[in-house]
Amino acid sequence: MTDKPKGWVFSDPRLKDLKQDYEAYTPEDFKVWKILFERQMPNLPEAASQAYLDGVKTVKFTADRIANFEELNQILKETTGWAVQVVPGLIDDDLFFGLLNNKRFPSSTWLRKMEQLDYLEEPDMFHDAFAHMPMLTNQPYVDFLEQLSGIALKHIDDPWAIQLLSRIYWFTIEFGLIRENGQLRIYGAGILSSKGETQFSLSDEPAHYPYDVRRIMNQEYWKNKFQDKYFVIESYEQLYNSIPEIESVLEEILAENKVK
Ligand SMILES: [Fe+2]
Repeated sequence: MTDKPKGWVFSDPRLKDLKQDYEAYTPEDFKVWKILFERQMPNLPEAASQAYLDGVKTVKFTADRIANFEELNQILKETTGWAVQVVPGLIDDDLFFGLLNNKRFPSSTWLRKMEQLDYLEEPDMFHDAFAHMPMLTNQPYVDFLEQLSGIALKHIDDPWAIQLLSRIYWFTIEFGLIRENGQLRIYGAGILSSKGETQFSLSDEPAHYPYDVRRIMNQEYWKNKFQDKYFVIESYEQLYNSIPEIESVLEEILAENKVK
């Protein structure tokens, strides 16, 4: 259990005060951003959640300009008070949840190469920025993220608890669906940055279950292929309101484990 004061994360040496070096982007980087953007954006009006579509307008992402974090942070600050924090690739769980709990979304700044348009080992900024940032303009969504991370920090020394909470993160923030006006729509960033999974997740092939904290915590997920099941929320308020349940179901499962 962490007893560090809130804000500890900002003086953590692992962050190394990294910034986006916008001038360093090459013509190939701009081309990659444009290709990915133009390939995915036309699919989204019929597929993405309204919150995401509104968010894209708010953060002013376009095909011709790689997302600029300085401008983005100004906009996010005025909408939900969040910001992007540049990180050196994948980071430790305590740093990850520590940032989220302080309203900072960790992001890489590099872009995949032309020959990697469809497959990546690690998320690049097309995933981190294009898919995640527009959702950071939605208040109940970011409040959920902040609270979920707070629970994770309380259990940061328990890998089993972190795994259970990661399943919640995975099936919501990365692979979540929402029902809007009777239609399935995507808000999960892992889906939104994949043209193939955008189509697949809304098709009849995978199973679609109502959002269910206990079921998700008992559900393993795939990292290297499309999910075979997705969980559907009815609203972002539902996510935020599920925080006490996440905490109580987690305590329950951890207690059961101790008995065994
Ligand atoms: Fe992600």
